[in-house]
Amino acid sequence: MPTLAHRLKSFVASFYWFFYQGRWRVKDVFDDLYEGQQRGETLRGIFRDVFGDDYAEEADPTGFLTMTDLRNLAKHLSLAEGDSLVDLACGLGGAGFWVARQTSALLTGIDISSVAIEKARERIVDFGLTGRAEFHVGDFAATGLPQANFAGAMSVDSLFLVPDKIGSVREAARILKPAARFVFTTWELDMAGGVRDYRPVLEENGFEVEVCDTTPNWEAYQRAVYERILAEREVLIEEMGKKTAMVWVHDAQAELPRLPRMRRVLIAARKK
Ligand SMILES: C[S@@+](CC[C@H](N)C(=O)[O-])C[C@H]1O[C@@H](n2cnc3c(N)ncnc32)[C@H](O)[C@@H]1O
Repeated sequence: MPTLAHRLKSFVASFYWFFYQGRWRVKDVFDDLYEGQQRGETLRGIFRDVFGDDYAEEADPTGFLTMTDLRNLAKHLSLAEGDSLVDLACGLGGAGFWVARQTSALLTGIDISSVAIEKARERIVDFGLTGRAEFHVGDFAATGLPQANFAGAMSVDSLFLVPDKIGSVREAARILKPAARFVFTTWELDMAGGVRDYRPVLEENGFEVEVCDTTPNWEAYQRAVYERILAEREVLIEEMGKKTAMVWVHDAQAELPRLPRMRRVLIAARKK
């Protein structure tokens, strides 16, 4: 059950989403995004050009996931065959599918967007994970998943979006078995509402941090992708529809000037 503090933080965050994306709820922004995301051939072309061999094309992420990230996620999670893995804020599920297939783990994905969850379910068969993957609508900070249930938790490019970051870290600790890893990518932000350094947040809420690395080339990748999105705005609108394309356009406009105050990190933390 979401706590009162969690509800208050979500309420305050809704103002941010209204001014940033013109929608009150993060869920609505992502539902819009996922409605047309899979029609984004030009968008995929932009990522392919910018990331080259590092583009995680099969995973088809909604963010800046690379092949290097996927290999690091799988390595640091240290899963054994048949272990249960949860992907928190999984979107269309690609990163979790890739890691689950690589490690022979059983996958559970949760996301706040019901559109993403429906589409993730449709992709289970594409990764050969029928009977080995399931998806549910849920909140990072209140997943509704059982306690001490998972041998690993992962999350890609999502924690920075969640208003209740401490609640989310505690929730990851709650659903993990002792000594299990939480491995994730996110952005540390030197600005209001952001987290400058995740290490103390993790250490004070049930984890021991094992790895905290800046992800290679993140700033160059992101700058180049955003500049291309702004340059190809009209084609993106035609292909993906205005609602979906404008989520990417607004994101590019908002994030480009903030890049110098951000750092994309990959963190691996072990539950104490
Ligand atoms: C940038 S996308 C990344 C999705 C996916 N991990 C990937 O890499 O393709 C961020 C995701 O976070 C989800 N999200 C945002 N806030 C959330 C919350 N409070 N709880 C669960 N999911 C959330 C969004 O719906 C979206 O799917």
